[in-house]
Amino acid sequence: MIRCNSEADGTVRMKESESATRASVRVVCICLPQVLVWNLGFVLRARLSCPENFLRGIFILKMANNSFIQIESVHKHYGALTDGVTALRNVSLGVQPGEFISLIGPSGCGKTTLLKIIGDLLAPSAGRVLIDSLRPDDARRAHEMAIVFQAPTLMEWRTIARNIELPLELMGYARAERAARVQELLELIRLTDFRARYPRELSAGMQQQVAIARALAYRPKILLMDEPFGALDEMTRERLGESLLEIWERERVTILFVTHSIGEAVMLSDRVAVFSRRPGRVEQILPIDLPRPRNTATRETPRYAELVKKVRHALHLNGQTQ
Ligand SMILES: Nc1ncnc2c1ncn2[C@@H]1O[C@H](COP(=O)(O)OP(=O)(O)OP(=O)(O)O)[C@@H](O)[C@H]1O
Ligand SMILES: [Mg+2]
Repeated sequence: MIRCNSEADGTVRMKESESATRASVRVVCICLPQVLVWNLGFVLRARLSCPENFLRGIFILKMANNSFIQIESVHKHYGALTDGVTALRNVSLGVQPGEFISLIGPSGCGKTTLLKIIGDLLAPSAGRVLIDSLRPDDARRAHEMAIVFQAPTLMEWRTIARNIELPLELMGYARAERAARVQELLELIRLTDFRARYPRELSAGMQQQVAIARALAYRPKILLMDEPFGALDEMTRERLGESLLEIWERERVTILFVTHSIGEAVMLSDRVAVFSRRPGRVEQILPIDLPRPRNTATRETPRYAELVKKVRHALHLNGQTQ
């Protein structure tokens, strides 16, 4: 009897396991080609040199039908309907997790306005933004995002380490955890030797790096950056761009990056969203297929030059001058 039961049990289990295997095979058969297609571009570009790109492809596939940041028909009008300013008109954009996307367009086309709407500093007049399926106010409360502006806005009376520590203090992190995270970030921006210095003792570029580290302190999933290197000279800008790429890869953060520099947008981004003149809308989205990791040598490749030309054309096609 017992044998009989266990045989029946075994048969049922075998059947269950067979059907589970068949289901798994079906899932693999359906998903694998999609994963391979998604990854083909990455793999070819990276010339099989970067297995991380393959994993990234799978990650992007997972979220392909459901953008991490969804900007849906956003419209923003400042002031009275009759004599105000329409900054944004019908802006829609989906951003994938871990993506680096640049927003570029002429002055006054509403780039900062859009970043402020995503960051819950402004409400749209129409349309909506969802961040990881949350409204911007809920996403902000859940500490999903941080903003870095053009000016570093550090606390002059706090040392560099204590500036980076500030958000963690405000959020009630324990002392040991704060110290570990500050150390990690100082190493990441290579300013460990300056931890006890004050902002006035640092160059403008170093101060901006501290501002980025401070923004990353509580590990936000999204970093909104509004011309963070706009006030810096070109050499510093290029260096900080490369450092930002290292940070982005290490911290696995999604970056929305506003810039006026075509070269910077191409060098850093996975995609560049080109805006029309005011009222701003997304005119074109250009994928940037340069292999990663990118560095100074990337700027000397023919593909880089081609992509810079493409973005410039997209801007000029929209009747814009930078
Ligand atoms: N608080 C405000 N009140 C009224 N109008 C505003 C306000 N903020 C921005 N604007 C207007 O909205 C438009 C878009 O401004 P925004 O700062 O978003 O542009 P931008 O693309 O970031 O420009 P820039 O590249 O020069 O930084 C501009 O015409 C600006 O005058
Ligand atoms: Mg702006």
